[in-house]
Amino acid sequence: MADIGNDIIRAADYLNNAELVGIPTETVYGLAANAYNHTAVAKIFDVKRRPSFDPLIVHISNLDTWQKCVIEISTTAKKLADAFWPGPLTLVMAKSDLIPDLVSSGLATVGIRMPNHKLTLALLDSLNFPLAAPSANIFGYISPVTAQHVEEGLGKLIPYILNGGKTSIGVESTIVDITTETPQLLRAGGISFEALQKIMPNIQIAKPNSIASSPGSLDNHYAPIKPLLLGDLGELIKEHLDKKISIISYSNSYTLTDLVHNYILSPTNSLNVAASNLFQYMRQADADASTIILAELVPNFGLGVAINDRLWKASLKL
Ligand code: TXA
Ligand code: MG
Repeated sequence: MADIGNDIIRAADYLNNAELVGIPTETVYGLAANAYNHTAVAKIFDVKRRPSFDPLIVHISNLDTWQKCVIEISTTAKKLADAFWPGPLTLVMAKSDLIPDLVSSGLATVGIRMPNHKLTLALLDSLNFPLAAPSANIFGYISPVTAQHVEEGLGKLIPYILNGGKTSIGVESTIVDITTETPQLLRAGGISFEALQKIMPNIQIAKPNSIASSPGSLDNHYAPIKPLLLGDLGELIKEHLDKKISIISYSNSYTLTDLVHNYILSPTNSLNVAASNLFQYMRQADADASTIILAELVPNFGLGVAINDRLWKASLKL
């Protein structure tokens, strides 16, 4: 069992000794290690059972560290950081030699972000290195949005989890590659495409097969153990009446005999609320008495795009 608490000094102690610590962010919990230290970073891949071709995001709390991690900070990068940091935006940039190849899976680029969480920003301020941190789940499973979720998945494998409460946004950061002539959206996330377009009108959505080493682009990700079927809920319910069903719906409620549970992402049609409930409800549905989870897509704009991406990746492809 990992200890769970809000002791930044203790968290820093472990990190200074090349150990791993679970950290809160505004998106999902991260599994953090000293990003400059190859041995520490190798433990992340080990503990998560993450393939080494899947690069990590590096977390910073100040400009100084940012400069050390990359070759150059362009005006575009500066503009995006001013607009969205601290916040759920990861910028893919040409990396410096301080970042071990293991962090970037051998790519010449590194993903950088400044997370918007008081505890983790204070922790970063107390360290003299940035933190490499993927989501703190076993590779492929649903991302954790509470310290308890991290404990359930990785508690036996790490010494400490910094408890910052339930994450506020609930889906991972938006990833934008700014090394290309036209900036490319690699993963939909907590900053909407519309918000990015306001700052960067020429941004494009990357074609799936052009995304380097992105499990965000692997089909089975964020997935519960049970089958999750995605489609029209009315139809799906009719087809699976012989099974023990749980439903994840956007705002409508469903009543049918023998329904195990109906998780409603947002009764008030708020995509932000839906995003903050998504992974929690997927985990609850995975743990309840149902044998199958039926779910529907949400409106496809704003945070809805990130939600639909996660739902689709969590679903069983027939
Ligand atoms: O919100 C988040 O981004 C969370 C919190 C903990 O910060 N982290 C997160 O990390 O979602 P992870 O490891 O689950 O997803 C990181 C993804 C990689 O799978 C890859 O798709 C992309 O970020 N990535 C990282 N570095 C990259 C690079 N140099 N080029 C392209 N994609 C990169
Ligand atoms: Mg992840």
